[in-house]
Amino acid sequence: MAGGPREQWTSRRGFVLAAIGSAVGLGNMWRFSYLAAENGGAAFVILYLAVTLLVGLPVLLAELVLGRGSQKSPIQALTHYGGRLWKPLGLVFVSAGFLILSYYAVIAGWALRYGLAAIASGFDPNAAERFGEVASGWDAFGYHLAFMAFTVFVVVRGVSRGIERTSMLLMPMLFALVVGLAVYAATLDGASAGYTYYLAADFSKLRSLDALKDAAGQAFFSLSLGMGAMLTFASYLGRDVNLPRASVIIAGADISIAFIAGLVVFPMIFALGLSADVSASTVGALFITLPKAFAEMGCVGRVVGVLFFVALIVGALTSAISLLEVVVSSTMDGLGWSRRRAGVLLGIAIAALGAPSAWSTEILGAVDQVANNILLLGGGFALSIFVGWVMAGPIEEAREGAASFAWFGSWRTLLRYAVPAFLFFVLVYDAIPSTFRTIADLF
Ligand code: TRP
Repeated sequence: MAGGPREQWTSRRGFVLAAIGSAVGLGNMWRFSYLAAENGGAAFVILYLAVTLLVGLPVLLAELVLGRGSQKSPIQALTHYGGRLWKPLGLVFVSAGFLILSYYAVIAGWALRYGLAAIASGFDPNAAERFGEVASGWDAFGYHLAFMAFTVFVVVRGVSRGIERTSMLLMPMLFALVVGLAVYAATLDGASAGYTYYLAADFSKLRSLDALKDAAGQAFFSLSLGMGAMLTFASYLGRDVNLPRASVIIAGADISIAFIAGLVVFPMIFALGLSADVSASTVGALFITLPKAFAEMGCVGRVVGVLFFVALIVGALTSAISLLEVVVSSTMDGLGWSRRRAGVLLGIAIAALGAPSAWSTEILGAVDQVANNILLLGGGFALSIFVGWVMAGPIEEAREGAASFAWFGSWRTLLRYAVPAFLFFVLVYDAIPSTFRTIADLF
């Protein structure tokens, strides 16, 4: 075992900002906007909100309770409360962290590349071609490595000196940037067409259960749930922190930033008449349409575009940190490795695992689907069962530091019945072949 007492956050604020840093990332800007575009704008936003509050929030509190209660990283936290039988689930969590970070850092690498290129020479109007170059092959791999190096650097410095400090510095800047960009977008001629598209609900799209699956996957991805990231962060917390309140603040900040990011992306795209590109939405949407918009806005576009990519990179970095921290802290607790050794060696392994995603956006998209729709939702299912049924005294643990918390009873009930039932349904729906699915969609 690694020596010394467990590391701790130096302030509650530091913990909350680090957790928000984990939640707010590429998911809020890149993933949320393309899913909203694909699934009928505001109709999807409403569905996403409902899933986040009714399913995401209870699981978030469950992770915080498990982490703080055990003061351990995921594998040991599960065996602490549930016995050795639960060790494999912990291993799945750590593997999910490995896998998600491997492609997450590739996308962050694209953002890094765009940001640096914009500072040096602006945006290329041939955005689709440009994206093709940036997003595949050695170029993509190189920037992926650079991004991984930053992530390793922060994590190796430790919980309070690395993760907490970085979040305290960068998160307020990220909020300011995203809000500033949304205000700027509102001043563009033709922005209103973007708002109409984003905020007018097309409920017909929701008739397909695919929208529900997307909303559930997005809720888990965006809140960093289902693989022990929030659990790990909470394991560095003291007993005096109000976990229910923290979970509401984290979820609230995450939803708000995703929503505001939509107020940046859609008006900009529509003001420049690029709406046709939105319907052809894929993993690349944000990286093709927006740079094209920035290129057409001339000098101002260059400044705005650089700020946009800075926000994206900052969000991605604070999220990547939390993914790496899960893997690192598990190795420190389980194998007794030092933080430095775990960070560097595992960072290298994750960077190597990202190579296929760096080579092809199709592979990346496929890995993203598996990670979200199976690993995270499956992980959330197992976590809700674990905290709802297996763990002794979850309510007492949640109540530590939060005497006046009113919804304990309903929290436990949600975790026991509604949350696992919902996630089970989505997982099964995702597993059945598409022909049956079309039939199921008729009902
Ligand atoms: N939530 C982050 C985002 O929206 C991504 C992320 C960080 C994540 N840690 C995670 C996703 C853990 C799933 C699990 O960009």
